[in-house]
This record gives sequence, C-alpha cells and structure tokens, in this order.
Amino acid sequence: MAAHENRVRGGEGIAMRARKARLPDAERIHALIAGYAREERLLPRSLAEICENIRDFTVVEQRGGVIGCGALHFYGAELAEIRSVAVDRARQQRGAGSRLVAALLAEARAHGVGCVCLFTHIPDYFARTGFVTVEHQSLPEKALKDCVRCPRVHCCDETAMIFGALPLRAAAPQPQLVALRSLAG
Ligand SMILES: CC(C)(COP(=O)(O)OP(=O)(O)OC[C@H]1O[C@@H](n2cnc3c(N)ncnc32)[C@H](O)[C@@H]1OP(=O)(O)O)[C@@H](O)C(=O)NCCC(=O)NCCS
Repeated sequence: MAAHENRVRGGEGIAMRARKARLPDAERIHALIAGYAREERLLPRSLAEICENIRDFTVVEQRGGVIGCGALHFYGAELAEIRSVAVDRARQQRGAGSRLVAALLAEARAHGVGCVCLFTHIPDYFARTGFVTVEHQSLPEKALKDCVRCPRVHCCDETAMIFGALPLRAAAPQPQLVALRSLAG
C-alpha cells in the first residue's frame, strides 16, 4: 500500500480508502468544494486551479466513488496548510473527514514539515485532532497568498490553527505583513 493510502471501515462497514488525487478526480473535487463555497463554508476553487494543484489533493473513496477531498499546500520546508477539506453531505459522520486530515498530516510528516496550519469556521472539529488556535499574524504566508484577495480581509471570521510548532521565522515580525497592515488601513 502506498504511503498515503489507508483503509478503514466507514459507515455501514464499507471500506474507505484515502489516496492521492489524480487529474480525473478534479471535476468531482470541484463539485465537492463548490457546494460548500456557495454557502461560504469554504473558499471557492476554480476547476483550473484544482487541476493546476491536483498534486496537493488527497481524496477518500468508498465503493469506488470519491466522497471527500482535502489539500496540503506547502509554503516552504517548514510550513504547510490543510485546505479545501470537504466530505459529501450524504457521507458525513462516518470518519471520512478524520481520515482525510490524518492522511494530510501524514503527508506533511513524510515531507519533514513540522507545522501544519489551517483557517477554519469549525475550530472545535480540528481541535479534536490536536490543532491549537494561534493569532492570524503568526501565519503571514497565508495572509500573502489568500487574505490579500479575500473580500473579508478586514473582517475575517475564521480561526487560525496549527498542528506542531510554529516555524521560528513565522513567529518573528514579517516586513510583508507590516506592508499588508498598512494596505488594510
Ligand atoms: C467538517 C467535515 C469535513 C467533517 O467531515 P466528516 O466526515 O463528517 O467528519 P468525521 O466523520 O471524521 O468526524 C465526525 C465527528 O466530528 C464531529 N464534528 C463534525 N462537524 C463538526 C463541527 N463543525 N464542529 C465540531 N465537531 C464536529 C462530529 O460530531 C463527529 O463526532 P463523533 O465522532 O464524536 O460522533 C464535513 O462536515 C464537511 O465537509 N463540512 C463542510 C466543509 C467544511 O466546513 N470543511 C472544513 C473547512 S476548514
């Protein structure tokens, strides 16, 4: 079994498998994310963006169909972000989300990345896995990648969380973040 593949018994005792995504999964991943993006529970991702970053994605499949997805995006050798975690509404509460998060954390570990961050509206869910809340300013990489083009840059209601230890460089004041703050007025 490949490093990121793992199997558990999902709801109804049917095996679930987490595996790295492949390009033919892109449309299904797009549909999974789009459903929650419309409700502003996830950031929208275009199909082109998903194809471009398909190697970031892991999917969970059951009965040969993809029922969930999530991505691990690297910001450098010391920091990665879990993004776009989504499980089909009809397949929730059966361990698929936990399976995805575990696979993405294992992937980060396999790459020697010591800190995995995420921004979420459901901190209690990720706290169960060991994520802890941090200040948004601790993660300037995220601010520079996404926050600058987010309509909620001035009124962010997401919780920043990390698993592992913040990279030392991320704990220090960042010139780019100072510039961002002045942009924000
Ligand atoms: C969040 C999400 C990925 C969870 O997937 P899932 O497959 O249902 O989760 P699991 O089956 O692994 O875990 C279920 C457990 O988490 C708990 N849980 C689910 N959503 C939760 C939430 N919002 N807050 C706290 N706990 C939550 C359940 O109560 C359940 O607990 P139990 O095991 O004690 O019964 C799924 O609900 C989803 O796709 N949500 C919409 C998109 C989203 O918000 N993604 C996260 C963006 S950062």
